[in-house]
Amino acid sequence: MSPKKITWKSVILRCYKAEQSALPESKKPVLKQGSFQRLSLSDLSSPGSQLSIDDLSNSQVTSNLHVFTLGELREITHNFSPCNLLGEGGFGPVYKGFIDDNKLRPGLKAQPVAVKLLNLDGLQGHREWLAEIIFLGQLRHPHLVKLIGYCSEDEQRLLVYEYMPRGSLENQLFRRYSAALPWSTRMKIALGAAKGLAFLHEADKPVIYRDFKASNILLDSDYNAKLSDFGLAKDGPEGDEAYVLTSIMGTKGYAAPEYVMNGHLTTMSDVYSFGVVLLELLTGKRSMDKIRPSRQHSLVEWARPLLKDPRKLDRVIDPRLEGQFSTKGAQKAAALAYKCLSHHPKPRPMMSDVVKVLELLQGFDDSLVGPFVYVVANENGSTDCVGKDESEENGHYHQGCIQRFGWRQRSRLPMSLVAYTDSALYNNFRNGLN
Ligand SMILES: Nc1ncnc2c1ncn2[C@@H]1O[C@H](COP(=O)(O)OP(=O)(O)OP(=O)(O)O)[C@@H](O)[C@H]1O
Ligand SMILES: [Mg+2]
Repeated sequence: MSPKKITWKSVILRCYKAEQSALPESKKPVLKQGSFQRLSLSDLSSPGSQLSIDDLSNSQVTSNLHVFTLGELREITHNFSPCNLLGEGGFGPVYKGFIDDNKLRPGLKAQPVAVKLLNLDGLQGHREWLAEIIFLGQLRHPHLVKLIGYCSEDEQRLLVYEYMPRGSLENQLFRRYSAALPWSTRMKIALGAAKGLAFLHEADKPVIYRDFKASNILLDSDYNAKLSDFGLAKDGPEGDEAYVLTSIMGTKGYAAPEYVMNGHLTTMSDVYSFGVVLLELLTGKRSMDKIRPSRQHSLVEWARPLLKDPRKLDRVIDPRLEGQFSTKGAQKAAALAYKCLSHHPKPRPMMSDVVKVLELLQGFDDSLVGPFVYVVANENGSTDCVGKDESEENGHYHQGCIQRFGWRQRSRLPMSLVAYTDSALYNNFRNGLN
């Protein structure tokens, strides 16, 4: 028999349990029950703070959550049947289940659920499970996925969420053999996800989500977007601190440059990741794809320079849309993505401003109406507008002439092949519980 693999996760778990039992009852932390002050993960992982799962289940943190037994979760997922498998990520497999009348308890209705099961041999572990419970147990918002409950038995760690019928944005946007997501749906998803991030950033104690990407945006039957996966979330900087200095975790292709370079984490790191997802929505291309020509492996490196020039947008916009999108809307969305993807954090907009811009873009549909703008080269080779788009003058975006007709052309670009991003966590665990 091969020796059992020792992972950082199991070490943490053992230390956690050992410290807990070593501490006298009187020294264990008492969670505030009455006044609502969001409990942070650092309250649990700071030295000298030992919180047992029993303490957790009696606290304000989990008052919204149901505690399930492993037996119950086995039953509702048909013993974690492969037929019920919805997908698998770094935490472990996710199964569909149904809470029926037999499992009901006060406050729990019959409903489909998604059950996430920790892979005990994987890179994630108890800390991510706990982070999910601590953040999602306390934060409720229409654009955050609802955590219904959890299970902890021996080393097993499970999470039970509301079931999101349309799965992840990643599945919807990059699926090969189905109709492309319409423009208006893409803008709706961008707005929903932006509202979720804005809520986190504007909380009394701001939260940095740290893993904003297409696979973590889940969709309900009406394409309302909800953020899932708070395993890497962090509390924002406190006091005079400009950033949180932390180990580098996240997904390649989405993480902000300053965070990857030196571990400086701020809410602006999330804004950058939002820019990457917005770019994925505009282009229909994955943030990283080794199957593309080498110049285009990184979507941001390739597409960002094109975003600031409206005349180059036809090279960027997803050809699968076949011209069915709002020209003005696409320009504004591209300008927004460009700002979010600023190399330095300062010029990036706050998420509340991103929400405002995206709200203006909802229902924008000038793809079939409005005059064309003709572009004629003059003697010195520059271009003049001949036909004039009046509505453009009233808009905020006014950067030269727009070759609107170009965007209605059928696809000139080959459809991007499906390839999977390297969603493995690139991390350094020097800081252990960070
Ligand atoms: N609440 C849910 N409802 C419906 N499907 C879900 C739900 N949660 C997750 N899924 C499905 O399970 C898949 C795996 O999700 P998970 O969050 O574990 O991994 P991931 O986001 O793909 O990868 P990573 O570990 O890098 O975050 C998702 O892509 C989605 O299709
Ligand atoms: Mg995920």
